[in-house]
Amino acid sequence: MSNGASSVSNNNTSAANNQRQQKAKKYRHAKKKQPHKMKPHGERKSQQQQHNPSKQLEKQIKAQKKQQQSNKSPSASSSSQANGRTSSSSSSLISTLSKKLVGAKFRMINEQLYTTTGAKAKEMFEKNPELYHDYHDGFRSSIEQWPFDPVSNLVSWLKNKPKKLVVADFGCGDARIAKEAKQTTIHSFDLVASNERVTVCDIAHVPLPDDSVDIGLFSLSLMGTNFIDYLKEAHRVLKKGAILKIVELESRFVRFEPFKKLLQKLGFDLQSQLNPDHYFVIFEYRKNENRPSLDVDKIDPLSIMKPCLYKNR
Ligand SMILES: C[S@@+](CC[C@H](N)C(=O)[O-])C[C@H]1O[C@@H](n2cnc3c(N)ncnc32)[C@H](O)[C@@H]1O
Repeated sequence: MSNGASSVSNNNTSAANNQRQQKAKKYRHAKKKQPHKMKPHGERKSQQQQHNPSKQLEKQIKAQKKQQQSNKSPSASSSSQANGRTSSSSSSLISTLSKKLVGAKFRMINEQLYTTTGAKAKEMFEKNPELYHDYHDGFRSSIEQWPFDPVSNLVSWLKNKPKKLVVADFGCGDARIAKEAKQTTIHSFDLVASNERVTVCDIAHVPLPDDSVDIGLFSLSLMGTNFIDYLKEAHRVLKKGAILKIVELESRFVRFEPFKKLLQKLGFDLQSQLNPDHYFVIFEYRKNENRPSLDVDKIDPLSIMKPCLYKNR
């Protein structure tokens, strides 16, 4: 009996242990997934709120400039040669800190753009348009270090396409494609107009009629957590048989298969996939006869592409 009782109680204990182990495993798994799990904007404490490297760098730059001013003042006691040396080292420190500041601001805004919807990102830039320019200053210095410039690639690809084709550049940045490509009608859309070629809008809703575009382009602009809406919108405005070109960072894809399935469900046929330098991937699609399938709304965007987040340096 006692053996029996003990054995029941042991069974209970081992069942409870099993349950705890399962829970712990689940918890560990959930924790592992945390970095890619996105909370809606506003719910999560942004990196900016937790630790603001930009503010610290701004303070350091201010302090250095003040120091430089006081070194230049006639009351400073050291010789003019020593003063010259101090001033040049202080200038180079200010320039290093300023570069770091550009990078820190870029990383913060970049994270916001990848972890929120296009509508929220639009609100952010409406409240503070300076952020858009800070983002693009950092983005430009990133491009300079890349082995390949997506916009130049798209411009040379467009050289072989008829001039009369209507092009839409979704998330155009400073609309270099509209400036450099030969096509007469190039619609350039972005959240802020950095020049007169850009039309301000969220690319989930562009001011174009259905079936009106021959070539749609997304160059590194599938950023928002609702990027599937951007692709649906492209499908709406593209003519049947129109071309859709997408350039993205290869590192955003865990696998290409889910992305290709999504595009198929949206009504696009894959024409080609190139991976120059294995840094970028360029997809070329054609819009087919099918309407986008309703299941696409159930797809978790994170199962398709990860946000491109940079580490703080
Ligand atoms: C990484 S930049 C690339 C700019 C340009 N296409 C290029 O390749 O140089 C991405 C651009 O997409 C824009 N963007 C992201 N989400 C957007 C949205 N929902 N609506 C409009 N523009 C968006 C950003 O503002 C940014 O200018």
